[in-house]
Amino acid sequence: MFFDNLPENGLICAHRGARSIAPENTLLALKKAKECGAHCWETDVRMSKDGELVIFHDETLERTTDVTTHKAFRNRQPWYTDQFTASELRELDPGSWFLRDDPFSTIASGEVGTEEREAICSQKILLLHEILEFTKIHRFPVNLELKDLKTPPDDVTIVDRLINMLQETETMDLVLLSSFRHEYLHRARALSQKIAIGVLAEEQHPPNLIQYLDDLSAAAYHPEEDICDLGLVNDLRRAGFRVNSWTINDIPRAREMLAVGVGIITDWPQRFT
Ligand code: G3P
Ligand code: MG
Repeated sequence: MFFDNLPENGLICAHRGARSIAPENTLLALKKAKECGAHCWETDVRMSKDGELVIFHDETLERTTDVTTHKAFRNRQPWYTDQFTASELRELDPGSWFLRDDPFSTIASGEVGTEEREAICSQKILLLHEILEFTKIHRFPVNLELKDLKTPPDDVTIVDRLINMLQETETMDLVLLSSFRHEYLHRARALSQKIAIGVLAEEQHPPNLIQYLDDLSAAAYHPEEDICDLGLVNDLRRAGFRVNSWTINDIPRAREMLAVGVGIITDWPQRFT
């Protein structure tokens, strides 16, 4: 089981990898998360045009790749991620924007060193099976967030592919599956009794929360920080659920949450380990 590999109270989960010191969702961000001592990491899964499961956060490619500079892709605006094949996605550079934009000011502060700056420029968009290989070799647990592909209701193909891949790679016990699209989680549970499920919630809780989590045989609840109150945490933990909240970057808030056993999904894992 996923949580057997993790501390009983609280945990540090690197959000999209150690994304304050490396470009999000790249191998470098994953390696940095592990290196800095995070207990696990969170990453985002989408599907390419040709049905490959790929690691990428945004619905479009513009913010975190160099897609706008590729002549061949000029007429593909607004560059929807799911309109590119896996091999087209692999032509893109998902790292260099990080040096240019310095989104966490860690380039300016010098926290990102020369060696890392070189590595940043040679990243590729990852395929899910690549990160599962890393997960297995290093026994580094991963929270896979399945992004809502905005497909019609009942089109849950992505879940079937993902569960198949976890079975084939024998990585089920190192994976927590989370999603805002709860239909995906229900499908995952129907396909596997073993998969650990984390229910993501933004702005409001599902009604009858404990019953809701029970019905899914969920292992964890993942509320956004604003709705993660500590009374609720106690109730959930008493009922046997883990609680991991996102995105917790403020140090006092993180300490407060960790003290009551909440896991934190953070952009700054290196601050808390
Ligand atoms: O898994 C929690 C968090 O990652 C959800 O939001 O937009 O960062 O994927 P987002
Ligand atoms: Mg995510």
